[in-house]
Amino acid sequence: MKFTGSTAKSMEIKVDLATGLIAGYPTLERNLSYMKNMFHDGKAYDSLLAKGDVRVYDFFDLKRPVNDRELACGTSIVYPGKVGDEYFMTKGHFHEVLDTAEVYYCLSGHGFMLMENPEGDWEVGEFVPGQAVYVPGRYAHRSINVSPSEPLKTFFCFRADAGHDYATIESKGFRKLMVEKNGEPAIIDNPRWK
Ligand SMILES: [Fe+2]
Repeated sequence: MKFTGSTAKSMEIKVDLATGLIAGYPTLERNLSYMKNMFHDGKAYDSLLAKGDVRVYDFFDLKRPVNDRELACGTSIVYPGKVGDEYFMTKGHFHEVLDTAEVYYCLSGHGFMLMENPEGDWEVGEFVPGQAVYVPGRYAHRSINVSPSEPLKTFFCFRADAGHDYATIESKGFRKLMVEKNGEPAIIDNPRWK
């Protein structure tokens, strides 16, 4: 239905719940080659990549104006898979405006949000359909898919001028990692953390 009567620039954001896609917006595709040095088992990474540069995750960003009065939002889809014992995940980032919070709402799938701040405090929030994780300001965040078969789909929203700092994660990694141990998700120290 269409109702008008306002000059506000509202939007209807149509998320396809089956695919996680947002019609009309391009997909940003992140394949295994984009995740070099992110997984702790380098040999497992190299041998998986030799078999093919599979998709690890996608995201859609609605491209709102970058200022402190707008909200950036979109969807993230992490595909099922593992590199050695480590689940497929997003690269993860701090916000450039470090104290900017963010909300991720789980549309479908099963996973976790790993969060840690520069001082080393860390937390994990669980994603199940209908449950949101509130990521506090100052915490880097990474979505992890622990389902063996189903994509993890989330809808995110944060202040549009927060920016993304991927470089810190690319150079240092997260202090903690989520791996499969005895068939269950487990948190371990990252042996590669610098
Ligand atoms: Fe973020």
